[in-house]
Amino acid sequence: MNHKMIPLLILLIISTCSHGLNILVILPHVGKSHQLVFEPLLKQLALREHNLTVITRFPQTKITPNWRDINIGDDEVATEFLDIDVEAGTRLTQFACRLLLVELGKHSCDDGLGKKELQMFLKENNQFDLVMVEIFNTNCFMGLVKLFDAPVIGLSSSRPPTWIERWFANPENPSYIPTTFTGFSDSMTFLQRVENTLSLVWDKLIYEYFIAGPGNHSSRRYLGVDILKEFDAMYNVSLLLTNTHFSLNLPRPFVPNIIEVGGIHIEEPKEIPNKIAKFMNESSEGVIYMSMGSTLRGNSFPSDKRNAFLKVFSRIQQRVIWKWETNLTNKPVNVETFSWTPQREILCHPNMKVFISHGGLLGTIEAVYCGVPVIVIPQYGDQPLNAKALEKVGGGVILYLQDATEKTILQSLNKVLSPKFKKSAEDLSERFKDRPLSPMETAIYWIEYVAKYRGAPHIRTAAVLMPAYQYLLIDVIAFIALIVISFSYCMYKIAASVFLKLRRRNKIKTS
Ligand SMILES: *[C@@H]1O[C@H](CO)[C@@H](O)[C@H](O)[C@H]1NC(C)=O
Ligand SMILES: *[C@@H]1O[C@H](CO)[C@@H](O)[C@H](O)[C@H]1NC(C)=O
Ligand SMILES: *[C@@H]1O[C@H](CO)[C@@H](O)[C@H](O)[C@H]1NC(C)=O
Ligand SMILES: *[C@@H]1O[C@H](CO)[C@@H](O)[C@H](O)[C@H]1NC(C)=O
Ligand SMILES: *[C@@H]1O[C@H](CO)[C@@H](O)[C@H](O)[C@H]1NC(C)=O
Repeated sequence: MNHKMIPLLILLIISTCSHGLNILVILPHVGKSHQLVFEPLLKQLALREHNLTVITRFPQTKITPNWRDINIGDDEVATEFLDIDVEAGTRLTQFACRLLLVELGKHSCDDGLGKKELQMFLKENNQFDLVMVEIFNTNCFMGLVKLFDAPVIGLSSSRPPTWIERWFANPENPSYIPTTFTGFSDSMTFLQRVENTLSLVWDKLIYEYFIAGPGNHSSRRYLGVDILKEFDAMYNVSLLLTNTHFSLNLPRPFVPNIIEVGGIHIEEPKEIPNKIAKFMNESSEGVIYMSMGSTLRGNSFPSDKRNAFLKVFSRIQQRVIWKWETNLTNKPVNVETFSWTPQREILCHPNMKVFISHGGLLGTIEAVYCGVPVIVIPQYGDQPLNAKALEKVGGGVILYLQDATEKTILQSLNKVLSPKFKKSAEDLSERFKDRPLSPMETAIYWIEYVAKYRGAPHIRTAAVLMPAYQYLLIDVIAFIALIVISFSYCMYKIAASVFLKLRRRNKIKTS
């Protein structure tokens, strides 16, 4: 072959293979952290010549090529809406947390689907090769999915919600798989297993009665799609990308169409702002970073607990960066507050020693990635679960806010500051990063795979469309039980009649 033709040929191959996909992305949740998980992936898809239309509450501030936002958000940014609470993480608050999710879901549905910009978009008659949708508490958006006859990829910014796993017929055995809200690890006591099992049933009931029904109403009202009747469509999601990894979130089985991409939100490090960089660089004894995330109001931190932390900080050698939105009074000289912090960059700074966190999944993953030990103060939602998992895999210790006193804070700090704990966190980091493909490449591979095989129905298990009684073998168990009972009954009858005859014969003989 002529040498000059080779580049031409390569160009030809590339241009035929990299046919850009037209992708609709639906991110309906009101919490921004859910979008932040998948934004780097979306940017990467756009960079690779795929055409994105993103229905979102948090549109891009800069014009991005191949990216169009359909804004369904309000101007008010939905962050900082929860109070930090000493009672948080207890059973009662976790119970209430589910209801909060239901309410947020209803709001996202009615508010989002009704937005003018979305309704205008629906009149455009667009065609898509793929639909990617966040699967969480807003199943009403599945009605939107139904309007475009394209393969669907689900996105889960945490572990797949317990009530969604049925769509994929994913094993969810509560004997060792903790549900989202119980906050157990994978080794449970008898009573914990009882609670975990009830919690699984409870989650499913909540879904049936408080999410599916109202979701259907919103979907009917704004889109004209009855999602409860379009049952098949709900169970027709081709693939789920979940923001977990077994090295951190504990091992459990996943069906072939659920793919773990935990850590996908971690981007190339950016420059740390000068003020923070200087503060960290100049701390010879290292730095402790404390942040309760973006949805918890920093100034709702109970004052006695805050003072306990400040007292401990005043007694240690390290410098402390505390993400705190308002003025912090009485702070020791080694403590500096910042209202915004580049978290991933701070955590990977060489002087970083300890992260004190609320246990949000994104921050937890970043700490694991950077090999930094964590003191977790779990509050709501999946935070107790993340905390328990992190503790089990050797990445941190748990300190419930109600137990936080000067003494316990100092004890926890001393524990995670030890070289042994640092080594443990670094080992975990190595296990977390050790993968055949990076989370980003894994996600893109599978997205293109689903498009290539037009929904890839061959990776879904047969259990997806099985009725529950068949999947749980209730019919088989009943059938076998029936046979065993009938057989035992017959044997009993035969034995009884033989026994009776023998007795009669004996009676005749003796008389
Ligand atoms: C990208 O998507 C928009 C719809 O949002 C469509 O108008 C446009 O033609 C698409 N471009 C390509 C190259 O498919
Ligand atoms: C879904 O909602 C619509 C409108 O509210 C209602 O008429 C319909 O019966 C619901 N579907 C089911 C299966 O309950
Ligand atoms: C902090 O240290 C890093 C690496 O040692 C260096 O690149 C950076 O310029 C320093 N920044 C400041 C503000 O001192
Ligand atoms: C915080 O304190 C500084 C100095 O004490 C003051 O100038 C500033 O106005 C205060 N800010 C708020 C929000 O209270
Ligand atoms: C299921 O998805 C495939 C594409 O992935 C689509 O062709 C089919 O119509 C869908 N079935 C239902 C019942 O929605």
